[in-house]
Amino acid sequence: MDTFIIEGGHPLSGEISITGAKNAVLGIIPAAILAADSCKIENVPEIRDVEKIVDILEALGSTVSMKNNILYIDTSCVLNYDCSNFVEETSKMRASYYLLGAFLGRYGQAIVPLPGGCNIGDRPIDQHIKGFKALGASVVIEHGLIKIKADKLVGTHIYLDVVSVGATINIMLAASKAEGVTIIENAAKEPHIVDVANFINMMGGKVTGTGTDTIKITGVPQMHGCEYTAVPDQIATGTYMLAAAVTGGNVLVNHIIPKHMEALTAKMQEMGVTIEEEDDGLRILVEKPLTACAVKTLPYPGFPTDLQQPMGVLMTIANGRSSIEESIFENRFRYVDELRKMGADIQVNGRIAYFNGGQPLSGANLTATDLRAGAAMVLAGLAAEGISTVTHVQYIDRGYEHIVDKLTRLGAVIRRESQAN
Ligand code: EPZ
Repeated sequence: MDTFIIEGGHPLSGEISITGAKNAVLGIIPAAILAADSCKIENVPEIRDVEKIVDILEALGSTVSMKNNILYIDTSCVLNYDCSNFVEETSKMRASYYLLGAFLGRYGQAIVPLPGGCNIGDRPIDQHIKGFKALGASVVIEHGLIKIKADKLVGTHIYLDVVSVGATINIMLAASKAEGVTIIENAAKEPHIVDVANFINMMGGKVTGTGTDTIKITGVPQMHGCEYTAVPDQIATGTYMLAAAVTGGNVLVNHIIPKHMEALTAKMQEMGVTIEEEDDGLRILVEKPLTACAVKTLPYPGFPTDLQQPMGVLMTIANGRSSIEESIFENRFRYVDELRKMGADIQVNGRIAYFNGGQPLSGANLTATDLRAGAAMVLAGLAAEGISTVTHVQYIDRGYEHIVDKLTRLGAVIRRESQAN
């Protein structure tokens, strides 16, 4: 397990370019199974979760190569829909569930181990199963495997009981090859859902309405390969915006879509951070003391749950009493204990955390408890007085491309210590 060693107190400055969205490409890469052809996907981030999903697809018969953020994948020879031998790989990531929708769409059946992912709550998949059954599939969960099978997938009307990113994408994947039209009501609207739909359409699919809560998928008999460029990562963008702010720096976060950041931008500006739009970037600078704010996480376009943990670090610095209401996941405040080691004054009451900010953080030995909590630990270390360590950084490597190099180029004093496992 690797550890980061961070010397805090260095305001970040310079420019950082953001690459493709983890939560888009983790849907796009399995979606390529539907093409049964060659695809070229650009702006793919070099992160562990991409490596894992690629390993699984290669083992199932795909030919995959990746260089300079460009991924080539040929799924014409993917002949096996049975992923039951990949419990190790699938149990460490959430997005392995997309193999269900992709294989169901291509072969009418799939066997995939139950997904893993960050320990931030219960994370059921009942809405995914509801969608597959509505399309005509039978679903059995046994021995830790999800087994789905359909003689024929028939388009239908599905109302999601919960706004679910994963279920929305998974149903889109399966419905792309169903007979007839599928309507998903109460669909999630995240930018990465729009991106996966755009990719499906580039492969000859017919998906409309993504970005709204009603998505229409018209099944097609055949799909084909394509070339596509993934959308910039909204969450990585927000993480680096917050890194600039917690260190009192001046950073241009580039190659992004500023509109995707509006919920975070509005809250950071409310706290007193200066944010200026420059071409396809946002410049973040701190020119005055920051003040408290209140945040409630919501599905897009609301404040993203994946940015609440890094936002908590900014709230420990801002003067006054801030709050975060985490409405999406039931266990996403585990990072608070870590921040308390640094002197943060935080109370958690159920789904709401209260931050009495304004006191500087002091360096401490910290643990990354999940991907975004790990990112929050890095931000806290950058902001704190003195030295901090962050262990279990394998969580961070799942979703942040070359984070040590990128922060070092912005003036951070951070290094990785690799330890034998
Ligand atoms: C995706 O997870 C992301 N992961 C998460 O990002 C993100 O936090 C989440 O969406 C919300 O935006 C990937 O895209 C790989 P959901 P997912 O289904 O699909 C409940 C990160 O840091 N629910 O939108 O698992 C669920 O319990 C990760 O990159 C059901 O009840 O999230 C939660 O309360 C962490 N039944 C809510 O819906 C279901 O069948 C939203 O979950 C599915 C979900």
